[in-house]
Amino acid sequence: MVIATGPTPLTRHAVGDFHVGPQYVVDVRDQPPDMFVDHSVRDWSKVSWRDIGRPYRVEKWSREKRDYERTHGAELPILDGWKKFNANFHAFFAQDVPAAGAAARAELAAAMKTFDVHGAREAVEEMLHLLIWNRIHRVEDAVWDPRGKRALFDGLDVKKPRILFLGAADGYEAMQLAAMYPGGHTVLVDYDEFCKTDRFGKFPEQYPFLGADLATGHKRVWYREEMDISFEVEDIRNLRYGREFDVVVSIGLIEHFPDEHKPLAFEFHRRFVKPGGYVIMTTPRDQLRSRAWYYVMSDLLNYGYRELMTVEQMALYARENGFDILRAGVIKAHNGIVCKVRQ
Ligand SMILES: C[S@@+](CC[C@H](N)C(=O)[O-])C[C@H]1O[C@@H](n2cnc3c(N)ncnc32)[C@H](O)[C@@H]1O
Repeated sequence: MVIATGPTPLTRHAVGDFHVGPQYVVDVRDQPPDMFVDHSVRDWSKVSWRDIGRPYRVEKWSREKRDYERTHGAELPILDGWKKFNANFHAFFAQDVPAAGAAARAELAAAMKTFDVHGAREAVEEMLHLLIWNRIHRVEDAVWDPRGKRALFDGLDVKKPRILFLGAADGYEAMQLAAMYPGGHTVLVDYDEFCKTDRFGKFPEQYPFLGADLATGHKRVWYREEMDISFEVEDIRNLRYGREFDVVVSIGLIEHFPDEHKPLAFEFHRRFVKPGGYVIMTTPRDQLRSRAWYYVMSDLLNYGYRELMTVEQMALYARENGFDILRAGVIKAHNGIVCKVRQ
């Protein structure tokens, strides 16, 4: 793996900047179109499971999970699965993609020269993963998807909010929210310590978030180091907060709970949001390309229960679990809903 070393010191971006770097895309353009397909106008009370069907379950497991379960005769513990997922996923984000591609091609050439079939297979697999990562993250910018997320998060009636991110991983979406609604405090929660030390801890300081300037009312660019963020390594079930956050957000959490545990997953959000506060959730979309992504990346990402769903299915879960939906729609890879606890 080739680790990217970012340029230092901080070079400030201007609103409107766009460029594709070796690790990620800089996109602080403030002009449309933003990829957010709004489904909010639907009357969600008319949507039923009979009409929309149930989510798709991803069931191609990683080799490591299968090996563990064969040798231990028991399921891989959930937290252990997340640790592996986070380590593997972070390795992708940390890579200088063009350099890593060149290295994989060189490895393949060397393996072919010595008729090393195993080595050649590994190099080909790595090249395939890199090719897909390059497409998803550097061409489409579909993982972080700043334009889609900004469109989804737009229009909240909050000032200097307290934001809670459940299952925060790298904290990306809370940083985007904190840039758009600055001056408050953000708490990231994840029970995998590596998220604090590496996924968030080593999140590129140079990555620009387009947000607001409270002093002038204009747009401005924010960086991780300029935001007031704390990271709590804790199981969500053990959190001691009351209903004290203006915004509670989760990105890719709900779909990891089978139906019998969905009420608990939604309860996590309700438990910590102020009366009248916002709950924002996203889940991966059930679309052909997402199914293909989790199929090809199964060895690196599939350690535990995961569903892919449509925005209708997601909204119906939220409604059934006591939320009123203010906005619902799809961004590049995820469904997103903004809702409030039903009074
Ligand atoms: C699928 S990831 C979220 C996707 C994320 N946006 C990313 O970039 O990987 C879910 C995160 O939630 C964390 N998580 C899952 N269950 C948790 C729990 N009970 N308490 C705290 N964190 C949890 C996992 O460790 C993982 O980092």
